[in-house]
Amino acid sequence: HRDLTGIGHLARHEILYLLDEAEQWVELNRQSNKRANLLSGLTIINAFFENSTRTLLSFEIAGKRLGADVVNMQAATSSVKKGETLIDTAMTLNAMRADAIVIRHASSGAVRLIAEKVDCPVLNAGDGQHEHPTQALLDALTIRHALGLPKGSDLNGLRVTICGDILHSRVARSNILSLSALGCEVSLCAPPALMPTDIEAMGVKVFHDFDAALKGAQVVMMLRLQMERMSGQFIPSPREYRHLYGLSLDRLAKAETGALVMHPGPMNRGIEIDSQVADHVERSLITRQVESGVAIRMACLEVLTRRARALPGWPPLGQT
Ligand code: CP
Repeated sequence: HRDLTGIGHLARHEILYLLDEAEQWVELNRQSNKRANLLSGLTIINAFFENSTRTLLSFEIAGKRLGADVVNMQAATSSVKKGETLIDTAMTLNAMRADAIVIRHASSGAVRLIAEKVDCPVLNAGDGQHEHPTQALLDALTIRHALGLPKGSDLNGLRVTICGDILHSRVARSNILSLSALGCEVSLCAPPALMPTDIEAMGVKVFHDFDAALKGAQVVMMLRLQMERMSGQFIPSPREYRHLYGLSLDRLAKAETGALVMHPGPMNRGIEIDSQVADHVERSLITRQVESGVAIRMACLEVLTRRARALPGWPPLGQT
């Protein structure tokens, strides 16, 4: 079986395939009857070792809309609290004969470790500072829709600026990989302490001055300061941070005319993004990102469980 542990393991045509598969679920989710029973009889376990609102709920809704039995294991109320190891927890879930396991974990690489131990497909719902592949897929789908681009389209030539806590951001990492694969020009902006030193190797432009980073940007993706992952980095105070790196309406005017604004959530309103920007009816895609998230997770669950349903799996590698 195939897993979805990171965008780094996907070919460009596989990213496009998942985006295209999600289109039918966007349509279904807009209807009053949102049921498709493709995964009837399958069991999906969402094992979340870290907090989540959007990812956990949208994976749960996605599985249920496809007709699967979905159960959630939240570490805070599980035997993880009694000291059970990650591998023992994984083997326990495996013995329950899940057909797919969705995992969020605070440690980079934890999802890959579990994927190597269990018999069913594993989907990464965010692992430490490593990757959050379904977030990058839903972001690409949201951009495609906002630009009115049809199924099959990539994002060739689009200028995207990602600003915030790049160092700790699995969302930034997955988006750099996905947006670059789809043809975007990606610029990053962060205070020096929150920018990984080797990031230029990923083919991105690096800025520390937000106004300079916004010049020409058609999409501006803002990231949260991840205080829970900070370990001694020097960062500005919230007030200084807003002054230097916060997205206000005035600052948004420095980007390309009509530039679109994204944020994966949860937001720190008044720090990295002002409410006037976050709630801007024409420019903010933030609630549309959440809507795309359900459709993308439906596509990922449906495609990854094809083997379990005795169907051919992924599109053959090498297909363009
Ligand atoms: N964007 C995102 O992953 O949000 P949650 O942490 O609420 O799942």
